[in-house]
Amino acid sequence: MSGPVIGVFDSGFGGLSVLHELQLALPTAHFIYVADSGHCPYGGKSAEEITRRAVTITDFLLSQGAERIVVACNTATIAAIETLRHQYAVPFIGMEPAIKPAAALTQTGVVGVLATGAALAGAKLHRLIERHAAGVRVLTQPCPGLVECVESGALDTPETTRLIECYTAPLLAERADVLVLGCTHYPFLRAAIQAAAGPKVQLLDTGAAVARRVLSLLLPDEIGTAPGSTRFFTSGDLTLGSGVASQLWGRPVALLRMP
Ligand code: DGL
Repeated sequence: MSGPVIGVFDSGFGGLSVLHELQLALPTAHFIYVADSGHCPYGGKSAEEITRRAVTITDFLLSQGAERIVVACNTATIAAIETLRHQYAVPFIGMEPAIKPAAALTQTGVVGVLATGAALAGAKLHRLIERHAAGVRVLTQPCPGLVECVESGALDTPETTRLIECYTAPLLAERADVLVLGCTHYPFLRAAIQAAAGPKVQLLDTGAAVARRVLSLLLPDEIGTAPGSTRFFTSGDLTLGSGVASQLWGRPVALLRMP
């Protein structure tokens, strides 16, 4: 029996970090991944612009048969998910920075959140902090440029290292011992961030938690038994995109053009 059809999208290839967890949790699902590389990064865009892109991508995913849609982008979740839920009957699952587990883990009482400026500006994050991190100092750090590093495959270049050191230093100076990766691109920089932060600092992302959530929303008879599949689309340059997608995915990706 065939499994569910699940659409997944991000501003670019960062959402592959979430897709990886989804595939592990749901090997019978048929995934359709869209990298909106032609419009990446979302970080500096208005909520209206991001919502327009999210609507276009949702229409495409629905035309491909998606039955559920994972917004594998913190910035798009904050900017657009409420409008999407209002406008479409299909269920949307969004990203939520790991504030709650970070607050439970910290020994120093200081947690740092790395994300895009647009994601940090949303009221949603502040509600999350109020609800789950009372008594903990939560420091937020916008990280312009890091999405572009991942999108160009520059995971450990001197410039990437310099940016990461610059963004983590103020958090470490305040004794943050847990760093929340509040952007789906950052798990691809995990090694470089860990090197900058030192071995005692814990890094948390939400890919696995989102995958568990998607699984929990499926009825047992929807999960299927036959092996699943994955198709990859981009709104950007196919040649450039194929190289980076394959590097991040760890095996060749046959990228298709999103019309
Ligand atoms: N992966 C997106 C996120 O999680 C990056 C946003 C951007 O393109 O700036 O926020």
